Amino acid sequence: MKLNIAVLSGDGIGPEVIEQALKVVNAIGKKYNHEINLTHALTGAVAIDATGNPYPDETHEICMQADAVLFGAIGHPRFDNDPSAKVRPEQGLLAMRKKLGLYANIRPTLVFPSLLHKSPLRRELIENADFVCIRELTGGIYFGDKGRNETRDKAWDVCEYTKPEVDRIVRLAYEYAMKRRKKLCIVDKANVLETSRLWREVAQGIEKEYPEVATEYLFVDAAAMRIIQWPEGFDVMVTENMFGDILTDEASVISGSMGLMPSASIGLHTSVFEPIHGSYPQAAGKNIANPLGTVLSAAMMFEYAFKLMDEANEIKDIVNKSLAEGVVTVDIADGGKAFSTSEVGDWLAAQIA
Ligand code: IPM
Ligand code: MN
Repeated sequence: MKLNIAVLSGDGIGPEVIEQALKVVNAIGKKYNHEINLTHALTGAVAIDATGNPYPDETHEICMQADAVLFGAIGHPRFDNDPSAKVRPEQGLLAMRKKLGLYANIRPTLVFPSLLHKSPLRRELIENADFVCIRELTGGIYFGDKGRNETRDKAWDVCEYTKPEVDRIVRLAYEYAMKRRKKLCIVDKANVLETSRLWREVAQGIEKEYPEVATEYLFVDAAAMRIIQWPEGFDVMVTENMFGDILTDEASVISGSMGLMPSASIGLHTSVFEPIHGSYPQAAGKNIANPLGTVLSAAMMFEYAFKLMDEANEIKDIVNKSLAEGVVTVDIADGGKAFSTSEVGDWLAAQIA
């Protein structure tokens, strides 16, 4: 197959981890006879420096033309400490989500047996956890009207959802649940928010179409507790943009290995695959960052964008092998030998070859 991939490395450790994922992607291409065409494009702080725009039109065009986008990370401390900055790298990410129509962000919480001792939770709470959070990504408070009054002593961010926006994400979540353990938890704050009541109304309609799926409704505050108290209880969870932002960060740390967590953002145009960790500027350029979250995101790309399951499974298998054999970076090396970012990438690619 011909696989056209747009590569947006971004900022911080983005370029280093992407480089390793590309070694793996190229090795898979060679082994399975795929023609891999990579087109690099700018995003984030590096794009602001070069063009003044964190998601330039040229980058958007390249993403639209591609079969999938592999994304590193964006963000730079010089913007975090400057509340008056007019353009921010994060705006590039939000613009990309909106313009590519990436309405569904899929974040699995994966537990790796060899890393269980790294979890902040006791082993018995987490060892059988295996759930996926589906976060709505192009609506809600992130994209509603925001502003200040004339005297600038009052501010607002409006949270809005339309029925079709809720409908498409809830349907996607039901379809996802059908392929798994057939349990869906719909997370909202329907005791307070009108948008949540709309979510519930729409979900209750769709629920009837999926009698095989056990549906549960949970308020977001209770869901936050449940993720800590009984993570095994979840299979698929679906929620609006900001609740999903917060809950997926919470969920990402319970496995003890945030550097390994991948994600997929699916939508109307080209889908985007990225690790959930950020740009980690303190580690940039040091060849110490964990590339496995990006490598597993590439596995999700083969699965979701190209529907190539053997290729996806082979990538997941070699990641498991690197964990089992201790070919890992310092964050998970645990006193054993720590390999550099590029050594891990080389090892993974060599295993595939
Ligand atoms: C994420 C990030 C982004 C978000 C930021 C960087 C805008 O936290 O992908 O979860 O809030 O969506
Ligand atoms: Mn976040």
